[in-house]
Amino acid sequence: MDTAGEYFDDGSSFVPIDPLSINPDSLADFALFERNDTSTDGKYRFRCLLKDSSSIPRQRLLDLLRAWDIVYIHKKQRTKYTEYVRNNLEFILKHDEIDVKKKTDTLIGLSTEVVQEAFQSNFSSHQACHNMVENIQHLIARAIDYISSIASLGGIAELVGHDYETHTHSIKVGWLMAIFINFNQDLFSISTRSAVKEFMIQAAVAGFLHDIGKVKIPKNVINKPGKLNNLEYVIIQSHTAYSTSLLFETKLPRSFMQMILYHHENEDGSGYPRELGGDQIPVLAKVCHIIDVFDALTSRRPYKPAKSPFEALKIMAGDNPYLEKLQKFETEARENKRVPVTAIVRDDYEAKLRRLREKEMLEEEAQKRVEARMRLRDQGMSHCFNKDLLRRFILTINSSDSFDLSGLL
Ligand SMILES: [Fe+2]
Repeated sequence: MDTAGEYFDDGSSFVPIDPLSINPDSLADFALFERNDTSTDGKYRFRCLLKDSSSIPRQRLLDLLRAWDIVYIHKKQRTKYTEYVRNNLEFILKHDEIDVKKKTDTLIGLSTEVVQEAFQSNFSSHQACHNMVENIQHLIARAIDYISSIASLGGIAELVGHDYETHTHSIKVGWLMAIFINFNQDLFSISTRSAVKEFMIQAAVAGFLHDIGKVKIPKNVINKPGKLNNLEYVIIQSHTAYSTSLLFETKLPRSFMQMILYHHENEDGSGYPRELGGDQIPVLAKVCHIIDVFDALTSRRPYKPAKSPFEALKIMAGDNPYLEKLQKFETEARENKRVPVTAIVRDDYEAKLRRLREKEMLEEEAQKRVEARMRLRDQGMSHCFNKDLLRRFILTINSSDSFDLSGLL
């Protein structure tokens, strides 16, 4: 597309960008505009500052980029700009003058694209699967120094309290996995720096994809605005097996496949899919479980507000005075499972689901019981997590000024 030197526009055809995100050493093949802030008839004057960066000396470009507070690109050149940001991600994340919020937005934007692609892919061939995992690996490898640093925790803190969405949730889980490993390397007996880096990359990839199995869960269950009834709760539980199965042919190491499969197992054996407890649960899965629940509790749901990190961790570390009652509800939900899970994964899905619904208790009654279970769960969840790992997680995120968790330690 060829851009004109001047436009009169209500602003909807232009996107603001940070001039510091332009790398003076890399050719920007899109035009930059400035906006005149006085509007006539609701239209602003957008004047072209630079058609592309090929015709200007490096130092001159650097001076200009520093002098401009904000510049605009034309929407028609957005794809070029996104491609440019993707290719210059390391430059942006290492730039001292770009603030954490902008770095986070950039990273979340690019990560959302690859994760969304993964969630939309139909897993029709091994090759498609490989490509999807490779795209994610490639992106994370370029961002790993930033996403495993304490500085980036400020970015995570900015995202606390947002709406729960599977994509952003998965990105945050991957991100926090990398940070946790970086600060608790003694747990994982890896000797060289390059091996640690590789391990963090794989952990972040596994975090990005830990819930990918949800693509196989009916949309009306996944997107249900209210709480899930027992049957739906059980259907959702099959996502861990689906995630592992979809990623089975990829090169994700076995330990990370186990992390994905067991990220809902509880320390006391009350989790799923295998009701493993204590030492039977791999350490990576235990860490992923802590991070998964932390992010879920600190995100806003249609039926409940987000908790602050302090409140969430207090619940996660607290003993539940109603544990016996809670376990009764959990057992009830699990007992429903014995029939459904095997039936659901076989063919003739709709017919089996109908039959299962007939067996299900009355919707209203089931809903009440689920609500009671959720209320009880929020009274304390220490039985779900390994105490030492939870403490390490609190210490890890508390090392950033963005979280004040001192009262918990
Ligand atoms: Fe999950």
